[in-house]
Amino acid sequence: MYQQLLKPLLFRLDAEAAHHLGLGALSLLEGSPGLARALRGPDDPAHATTVFGLTFPNRIGLAAGLDKNAEAMVGLFALGFGFVEVGTVTPRPQPGNDRPRLFRVPEHGALLNRMGFNNLGAHAMASRLSELEWRPGPIGVNLGKNKDTPNERAHDDYALGARLLAGLCDYLVVNLSSPNTPGLRALQEPEALRRILQATRAEAGARPVLLKIAPDLEDEAVDAAVEVAVAEGAAGLIATNTTVKRPFIHPEAGGLSGRPLLQRSTEVLARVRGRLPTIGVGGVFGPDDVQLKLKAGASLVQIYSGLIYQGPRLVKELVSATGPTPRPPPR
Ligand SMILES: Cc1cc2nc3c(=O)[nH]c(=O)nc-3n(C[C@H](O)[C@H](O)[C@H](O)COP(=O)(O)O)c2cc1C
Repeated sequence: MYQQLLKPLLFRLDAEAAHHLGLGALSLLEGSPGLARALRGPDDPAHATTVFGLTFPNRIGLAAGLDKNAEAMVGLFALGFGFVEVGTVTPRPQPGNDRPRLFRVPEHGALLNRMGFNNLGAHAMASRLSELEWRPGPIGVNLGKNKDTPNERAHDDYALGARLLAGLCDYLVVNLSSPNTPGLRALQEPEALRRILQATRAEAGARPVLLKIAPDLEDEAVDAAVEVAVAEGAAGLIATNTTVKRPFIHPEAGGLSGRPLLQRSTEVLARVRGRLPTIGVGGVFGPDDVQLKLKAGASLVQIYSGLIYQGPRLVKELVSATGPTPRPPPR
């Protein structure tokens, strides 16, 4: 139904209008966890896994940026996701960049965005999370800094986000890799990164803290960031965010996601292999892509652009494609 009916209609709309329509439809399930549970159906225990000390009903999750304000978590879990990451959330609400700021590039299976952390702020997210009635899998909160917070004070924003939200979610993500907040990615440099991870972990209590990295870092910079993440007690990594590189000519600025990101995001994933448990994300559109991520070392896999192009049935298709989670041999 999505490919034949809904997608042609949605793709006729402006990309951000279609986004709000889709998310709005999913959010209708917020008050109906019973119906959502029925739509999800039973989880197959063979797909369950434990990562970062958390139990996941399956290894396919929603990447950050689709549900920035935690408005549609019940509907998203109804689709079959094993975990949902909400945000990026900043301490104070902010409008993001001027529209248009989200573009489709269908001939490349890609999206291009320069949203700029538009969100309702950490207090609004805290109230949404505290009202949530049904959590069939872990919820991650992806933290960012406000645009008008200078980089020297960035650690305060991450610490505040962690203080307000750690108790309401299962893991936190330090996002320093979005290309649409000026200067943000410079904070992946070791000294700044150390300070931000320390400040976040100090407020996170027992919650695992993950670092989301950019695909545009040089390999040596990836290694350096991972060293700091290990030294500062991060529980895991997310590889990767969107890229500012363009494998084709396009007039719009912003971060590119979808098929063109598959290769580089998987290279980064393979590079960090064995250092910390990692969520692989970037360009997953079908079962083969999931296998590629798992083979490259992913413990879990997230999707965003694939969901827009392939539709909601993709989630269960990918869950089945992961097969049973490998178990350590019995002793
Ligand atoms: C419209 C849009 C908004 C996004 N917003 C965020 C965000 O707020 N925080 C973040 O960490 N990643 C954000 N992302 C990046 C995704 O989480 C993901 O890392 C990236 O899109 C690669 O996955 P994909 O190829 O499956 O889309 C966004 C991506 C898109 C397309």
